Amino acid sequence: MITRITEEQTEKQREYASLVRMAVNAASSERGEPYRFCVVTYGCQQNEADSERLAGMLSQMGYEKTDSEDNADMILVNTCAVREHAEKRALSVTGGYKHLKEKNPALMIGVCGCMVSQEHRLDDIKHKYPYVDFAFGTSYLWQLPEIIYKRMSKKRRLFLLDTEDDGNIAEDIPVLRECRYRAWLSIMYGCNNFCTYCVVPHVRGRERSRYKEDIIKEAKELIADGVKDITLLGQNVNSYGRGLYEDYGFSELLSDINALDGDFTLRFMTSHPKDATKKLIDTMAECEKVAPQLHLPLQSGSDRVLSRMNRHYTYESYKKLAEYAREKIPNLTLTSDIMVGFPGETEEDFEETLKALEEIRYDMVYSFIYSKRKNTPAAEYEDQVPEDVKGVRFRRMLSVQSDIGLKINEGYVGKTLRVLCDGESKNDEKMLSGRTDGGKNVCFAGNVPAGEYINVKITEARPFVLMGETV
Ligand code: 5AD
Ligand code: SF4
Repeated sequence: MITRITEEQTEKQREYASLVRMAVNAASSERGEPYRFCVVTYGCQQNEADSERLAGMLSQMGYEKTDSEDNADMILVNTCAVREHAEKRALSVTGGYKHLKEKNPALMIGVCGCMVSQEHRLDDIKHKYPYVDFAFGTSYLWQLPEIIYKRMSKKRRLFLLDTEDDGNIAEDIPVLRECRYRAWLSIMYGCNNFCTYCVVPHVRGRERSRYKEDIIKEAKELIADGVKDITLLGQNVNSYGRGLYEDYGFSELLSDINALDGDFTLRFMTSHPKDATKKLIDTMAECEKVAPQLHLPLQSGSDRVLSRMNRHYTYESYKKLAEYAREKIPNLTLTSDIMVGFPGETEEDFEETLKALEEIRYDMVYSFIYSKRKNTPAAEYEDQVPEDVKGVRFRRMLSVQSDIGLKINEGYVGKTLRVLCDGESKNDEKMLSGRTDGGKNVCFAGNVPAGEYINVKITEARPFVLMGETV
């Protein structure tokens, strides 16, 4: 059963938060220095959005934010489970915090998110990481104040496994955003698709949509707060409203948010190709605030593989939709997720994926090597692809896509594009970086504060970034 968290339950968490706050304030003034928190995030945008809520609750509890674990009194590791690599990193980083606790006995360490929504990982944390104070799965996020309060007062470690329930929806959790002008806006949670490789439906529960009124209210608050760029989030935004409304879906939501007053850009992710429709594309084309950007994960160009992945579309139907989108939306940035080495993927299947990349010509591809996930059907398939074969295919795919990305980007040289500046570039401190309306990465010389729009003339193309100068 999907539960909506009641106002009384939310109020109870506020009470716990104020009890923790009193304790934190007292300890801070005794020490003559504030208590600080650090949230370390792995995984997708949904996790980043969750981390902003964790940070919001910790601020509410009197902690101050720090970006360094070294001077934190509360560290939360918000984990991902989508690939083994993500889990290993979170575990090894958590392992490294042991010595911090030796230096600072006041330090509390919590592990949360998708990885610990799996029983075997929650057990790992409990038994192999004795200095971790508490761990809890994704459905407990809103109960952070209670968890911290209990750990503080009862001294017992807490390990909360997500129940068999289908998930919950909690509103009115405080948010501390990472960025003042870009914001995430979750419109739904969970996933019902059960792709055979994917752990998400197992760790984030059933698909459930927030009420449109709650979403629109949050969008209005963001706009009033000066946010210029809003990304609507869901595992499969195209099924927004299912089970909640008869005749109101994602296209309607997009139009309603588009109609709000204010100067902002609207994006969304992720669209599942089986549910993305021409109506969605038409709505994107009509709504002037919706960015010309579509992330439409193909995964594989082989129908045989798509079927074994339980994706419910064919390459041809996908391609038709992608072509329709390109036709209707000028300057569309089209991106995708591609997986190589899915069990049973033959050389021919893989070549169909390469052919798909050549035909569709994505601006950018997020590429992944298949990773076996416990409790998913594909993990049991007997025809697993050897690691070395996966590696070779992965590199071949990167090389094909890198040429395509470069060619597409070369088409932008000489053009002037509007860019939302994000400040100093991470790779070169003398340059600024930002994103175009279509979401393309731009690195440019100039002098403009983060959060401002600026026109940039593109002078050089690289596979993953456009280089330019302000005009
Ligand atoms: N192994 C590799 N990649 C995966 N993804 C999801 N599950 C797995 C897995 N088991 C990729 C898919 C998805 C993206 C978010 O992560 O491509 O679209
Ligand atoms: Fe996001 Fe999926 Fe990773 Fe969870 S498991 S953080 S939903 S990518």
